[in-house]
Amino acid sequence: MSEKNSQNIAKLIIGDRSIDLTVMIDSFDRPAVDIRNLFAKYGVMTFDPGYTSTASCQSAITYIDGNKGVLLYRGYPIEQLAADGSYLEAAYLLLNGELPNRRQFEQFQRETLHRMPVHEQMIEILRRYKRDTHPMVLIESMVTALGAFDTDCDVTTREGRNRVAINLIAKIPTITALALRYIQGKPFIYPREDLGYTENFIRMCFAPSDGAPFEINPIIAGALDRIFILHADHEQNASTSTVRLAGSTGVEPYAAISAGIVALWGAAHGGANEAVLGMLERIGSKDAIPAFLEQVKDKESHDRLMGFGHRVYKNYDPRALIIKKESEKVLANLDVQTEQLDVAKELERIALQDPYFTSRQLYPNVDFYSGITLSAMGFPVHMFTPLFALARTSGWIAQWKEMVDGGPLTIGRPRQHYTGPTQRDYVALDKRD
Ligand code: CMC
Repeated sequence: MSEKNSQNIAKLIIGDRSIDLTVMIDSFDRPAVDIRNLFAKYGVMTFDPGYTSTASCQSAITYIDGNKGVLLYRGYPIEQLAADGSYLEAAYLLLNGELPNRRQFEQFQRETLHRMPVHEQMIEILRRYKRDTHPMVLIESMVTALGAFDTDCDVTTREGRNRVAINLIAKIPTITALALRYIQGKPFIYPREDLGYTENFIRMCFAPSDGAPFEINPIIAGALDRIFILHADHEQNASTSTVRLAGSTGVEPYAAISAGIVALWGAAHGGANEAVLGMLERIGSKDAIPAFLEQVKDKESHDRLMGFGHRVYKNYDPRALIIKKESEKVLANLDVQTEQLDVAKELERIALQDPYFTSRQLYPNVDFYSGITLSAMGFPVHMFTPLFALARTSGWIAQWKEMVDGGPLTIGRPRQHYTGPTQRDYVALDKRD
């Protein structure tokens, strides 16, 4: 792991005590005060709810410069990977640290495609659920169950961990497509080794149930693959941190990824793509935008402009720029007429001129245009977050692997700033007032 080890010292003064703390410098010269021994040695805690200033781990996978709107996977700009790469290449890169050569890529692709089918009994798990179950529940259950079906799972060796990583990346599209067809009440379609990764997913989702020929639109396959690349990793966000936290207890990787899927679901995180579409539907037309924005700005309403704002980006989310273009391309290719794209563009234009949003550095994030694009492709709204989870699986498992490959695990266990009562004596029920 490349870390510039400068020996800068930070001084922490508490009353008459002065504590020297080492400052670590990262690859981009950003400092981090190393407080690992602060409690054990000095009995002092730091307080950082929401972890806004806390680096929870060292990682060499993804870099974000939120002020400049930069996102790099293993040093490669997201714009370049999205323009010329493929999702499987990005997944290989996240897992292994380097881009594959042709031979490595073909081997990775072959193994992934070969591992795409899931055990027939997995389908029985689905059948236990009601048809109107949210597909996030279905995929979370099936990913947990994958661990039980992976009887060769051995995570004590690097090869074993690589194998699990490929198994997850391979099976998540199949699981996601199964969930879609289940909620739609359609018979399942199985993967084929002669198709690409994303093409397979599209076919498993949309091919006719009667086996009639199905042609995959290359524009749609390319756009979906790019959307997968954009969602593949995003350093220590809530779901990735959840995967690491769960994984730090030594739980098996399938369960750790399942925990990540659950954390992703909320509207403040991956669930925002679904919420954006609901919001656009609610707004309805361009004339209704000013009133909606007034409502968002009124704190009493508890309404937010979904798909706007980000904990890390204080500038345009670079992924949003790419998805906006994809969205226009997909809608034009499919000849889809929707007012939603016009409303979204106008919403963005007005918000970016409004001091409420500009002063708080709120810009469109990855979720702002993704729902419109996925909807035009034919995905129902409830599938947007599962698609995010599908793509993020490569990032989650790369982060889990980095943590486990790095040596003995330290269980993730934050402390707290206690504000409850101090010790007091119990009073028996019949003696209380
Ligand atoms: N609409 C209106 N006001 C907002 C919004 C928004 N979308 N986002 C932040 N604010 C305001 C917030 O009310 C606060 O104002 P004030 O300073 O007056 O109290 C200020 O901006 C700072 O907000 P915050 O909640 O402290 O910021 P955060 O870093 O904790 O939250 C966020 C980040 C993404 C949860 C938030 O911006 C948000 O809820 N956005 C909408 C949901 C969304 O689009 N989520 C997807 C994130 S990107 C995909 C992913 O990686 O998960």
